[in-house]
Amino acid sequence: MPATTPGILSPAGREGPAAPLDVEKVRGDFPILKLKINGKPLVYLDNAATSQKPAAVIDAEGDFYLTQCANIHRGVHQLSERATKAYEDVRVKAQRLINAREAREIVFVRGTTEAINLVATGYCRKKLRAGDEIVISAMEHHSNIVPWQILRDEIGVLLRVAPINDDGEIVFEEFEKLLGPRTGFVSGARLRLLRLFRPQGLRPDRRGGALRQGGAARVHVALSGRGRHDQFGQL
Ligand SMILES: Cc1ncc(COP(=O)(O)O)c(C=O)c1O
Repeated sequence: MPATTPGILSPAGREGPAAPLDVEKVRGDFPILKLKINGKPLVYLDNAATSQKPAAVIDAEGDFYLTQCANIHRGVHQLSERATKAYEDVRVKAQRLINAREAREIVFVRGTTEAINLVATGYCRKKLRAGDEIVISAMEHHSNIVPWQILRDEIGVLLRVAPINDDGEIVFEEFEKLLGPRTGFVSGARLRLLRLFRPQGLRPDRRGGALRQGGAARVHVALSGRGRHDQFGQL
């Protein structure tokens, strides 16, 4: 998997160090960050719940309602055709962004909870067997805990939880100790967790997979280094 450093954007699939993030330029893209709250510039950290939108997104959404607003995939009139094309064009853009093999690998969902439930029910329920282990960390949001607990109760997989230290950080060494031939799936919100997911150390029958949850942080996930195991990235 190509190196991807938190806070640093790199074109998907490119190996080597990425260009440093130009924070001021990025801030300039977000009109809401010009707001002052209590006389001070807005600092917004709740991106996992709702991300602020850059001007390009606000403009595109406004343009949609002004010129294309219609159902996708169902209408036979001009507006619906425009909306469908715009929707499918985004799928291709997202494919290129994360370096997926085919556009149909991109699935649009409403948020993290729906995305992880989809992987748990649509992929893991079929692939995993009783006794297989799912590894998460103790710092996961409910959306990355409950789907696995449901699967545990339904099909008898085991949920292994890597500890965090007193500073609230994942103990990567402890996480790594939980990975082995019984590991059927790894799911975590941290980029480094997936680097710990070394397919060669896991089950050889290709029943395993991994999910990296980005919340709404919109970091790039480079999937080009996929090995024998399936990987899911949630942007
Ligand atoms: C850290 C984190 N992860 C996941 C979620 C769930 O996201 P969604 O509402 O998109 O299902 C939230 C929601 O607040 C969150 O704060």
